Amino acid sequence: MAFNAFGPRNALVEADAHRVGALSDWVNAQCARGALSEDGFGARVWAAADRGDLTHAQAPLVVRSLLTAGIDTTVPGLAAALYAFATHPEEWQRLRERPELARVAFDEAVRWQSSVQTFFRTATTDVDIAGTRISAGGKILMFLGSANRDPDRWADPDRFDLTRDPSGHVGFGMGIHQCVGQHVARLEAEALLTALASRVGQLALAGEPRRHLNNTLRSWSALPVRVLPAD
Ligand code: HEM
Repeated sequence: MAFNAFGPRNALVEADAHRVGALSDWVNAQCARGALSEDGFGARVWAAADRGDLTHAQAPLVVRSLLTAGIDTTVPGLAAALYAFATHPEEWQRLRERPELARVAFDEAVRWQSSVQTFFRTATTDVDIAGTRISAGGKILMFLGSANRDPDRWADPDRFDLTRDPSGHVGFGMGIHQCVGQHVARLEAEALLTALASRVGQLALAGEPRRHLNNTLRSWSALPVRVLPAD
């Protein structure tokens, strides 16, 4: 719902419109101090409020930002890596031989699939971009997924390729608002892929993947994968 809400206001948005209030209430309830584990990110945000680094009114809003921005993005991000390897067995063998490539592999999967396809900026002043005038206050929709496959920037852009250097992709955005949780996502992916690489000999699709349609996210509703243990 949150990522559909970026727009456009289409059937995906309308489908959840009647439960926006209930879902927002539920999310907000998860961000209250008493709802959080004692050793997680959320507890640290509240501890920062106790120290006066932010106000107690801001604390649940910061927790909500991390919760909303951090889960529905990482799930398709990790799935993108699994999908990439399930459809590129030679790259899986490369990772098994060199598990230190796990981080590169995750960034390449994020570039290749761009789990967050689009994001907005708001023009703070009248500005010309590539010959088009954007008025102050105007919205600019950035197609991260397109930039990540720009043939002027990437050789053979549609190919998932562990031998390329994916740094410079914009799957986590760019500039001062680029993803604040990207290193957490990379850490999660590195842990997952390194553990799988040491134990799994072959990864393969076990059925037809089904896309989950969302206005912002590129994800799956089903991604059946068969995992065969290493010898
Ligand atoms: C594969 C996983 C992830 C992807 C693909 C992703 C992608 C993005 C993108 C594209 C943006 C917009 C950047 C921009 O405007 O330039 C963003 C912002 C953000 N992300 Fe992530 N993200 C991921 C994981 C996470 C995690 C794990 C967290 C939190 C622990 C997180 C927290 C945030 C926050 C708070 C922002 C807003 C930053 C701001 O506006 O200053 N993200 N993310």
